Amino acid sequence: MKVTVVGAGNVGATCADVLAYKEIAQEIVLVDIKEGVAEGKALDIWQKAPIDVYDSRTIGSTNDYSKTANSDVVVITSGLPRKPGMTRDDLIETNAGIVKSVTENVVKHSPNAIIIVVSNPLDVMTYQAHITSKLPRTKVMGMAGILDTARYRAFLAEELNVSPKEIQAILMGGHGDTMVPLPRYTTVAGIPVTELIAKDKLDAIIERTKFGGGELVKLMGTSAWYAPGSAAAQMVEAIVKDQKRVFPVCIKLDGEYGIDDCYLGVPVILGKNGIEKVIELDLNAEEKALLEVSRGHVKEVMAVLDKLGK
Ligand code: NAI
Ligand code: 2OP
Repeated sequence: MKVTVVGAGNVGATCADVLAYKEIAQEIVLVDIKEGVAEGKALDIWQKAPIDVYDSRTIGSTNDYSKTANSDVVVITSGLPRKPGMTRDDLIETNAGIVKSVTENVVKHSPNAIIIVVSNPLDVMTYQAHITSKLPRTKVMGMAGILDTARYRAFLAEELNVSPKEIQAILMGGHGDTMVPLPRYTTVAGIPVTELIAKDKLDAIIERTKFGGGELVKLMGTSAWYAPGSAAAQMVEAIVKDQKRVFPVCIKLDGEYGIDDCYLGVPVILGKNGIEKVIELDLNAEEKALLEVSRGHVKEVMAVLDKLGK
């Protein structure tokens, strides 16, 4: 299997590293616009192979997409990250242009690839990649839900003093402050989380999760990369190994949850065909109302992209 990662910055390089050391793909191509950066990081990852004992081959390219030809999966991480004080939506103008030109190059050389978008604002950059690629909606998706859920699971594991492996959770909605965590569907080794934690503590963890990206931007002056890079690699793994994993993934909704023409995170089954099924949960009134707020917000940012002329 051949996987391309566009953007050899913090998230892209981390994703390529995980793809290599876990031998998720045999051939990994890292692309960046900055001269030599992708080649250098790809070479560094390849030189780690004898130490960490893997044989995935990593190569780099400065904007030469011929090297990416016939990729099975492409991860798009190119674009500006947030600085303190910025929202993800502040990135739209610059990142939309980047995601559009990158997607054009990607589909030219890999018309059958499945595309995973990571660049922010995530839901709207997935929209940009989808309309530019003209691929079916099941083959163009955004990574955010695995990351947001991981933050929620990590905070819960810390609070309950259990292994993060024991926490199963799902959340929905846009990647931002309007994301919709679902405590009703959160379990600790099968035990509903609400039986193990007081409501005020759970509410505080949900609030921290919603602003989890911002917490890291404040600490580091730029956004996170270890968990985001691994999360994107986990989606690639589910696809190239046809694992049929269930993850929250951003996709264009076509009537699911009563929502049309909006890109939102929902639980899906991920396998060799991309998004093989959108799972429709039976949401209660409160959850539906939160999802509606999230939909409204994403639609506003989609309208900004429409005005920019896509
Ligand atoms: P970074 O600044 O470390 O890396 C971005 C890379 O993209 C740079 O190396 C830059 O040269 C490259 N680039 C810019 N234009 C390009 C083009 N036209 N073609 C190829 N490469 C190009 O940023 P980082 O931290 O890796 O973040 C990347 C993006 O991912 C940001 O938009 C960030 O907000 C987003 N992000 C999204 C997450 C999510 O959950 N969806 C999580 C973390 C970051
Ligand atoms: C995050 O949540 C910046 O979207 C990125 O860390």
